Amino acid sequence: MPARTSASPAYLPGGWAAPAVNGDEEPPTNSIAVMTKVAAVREVPPGTGRVVQIRGRAIALFNVDGVFYALDNACTHRGGPLGAGRLDGTIVTCPWHANRFDVTTGQVVVGVQAVTAYAVEVRGDDVLVELPEVVPLPKVKQVYSSG
Ligand code: FES
Repeated sequence: MPARTSASPAYLPGGWAAPAVNGDEEPPTNSIAVMTKVAAVREVPPGTGRVVQIRGRAIALFNVDGVFYALDNACTHRGGPLGAGRLDGTIVTCPWHANRFDVTTGQVVVGVQAVTAYAVEVRGDDVLVELPEVVPLPKVKQVYSSG
């Protein structure tokens, strides 16, 4: 078995592995997905989109014939607000330079790079979006064997 070095990961209960931490690095973090209410159903009528702010993040929320979709609001061209774009069927047109994206997948129709799409769920009158949330991992003490 090879000797453990400072670059070896620390293993946590449950099989989690944290990167090695040197004195001046940020503590390790992990990302989990959390369903978060972002709007009420009535706030986004069918055939429209809007920008919602949640925990410092801008999300473009769309209603296509009663089915909701969510994308990162920042257009992959130069950051235009996709939630403020014109929605035609499942295609949104960025209001800044007219790149186009499929709101059901985030795939680019006109432009270069896809935008991140998020899972959406409707519970009663609430629209929830599954957003990644960074969770700090507990500090671990690395133990090195001398041989
Ligand atoms: S910023 Fe969206 S097309 Fe340029």
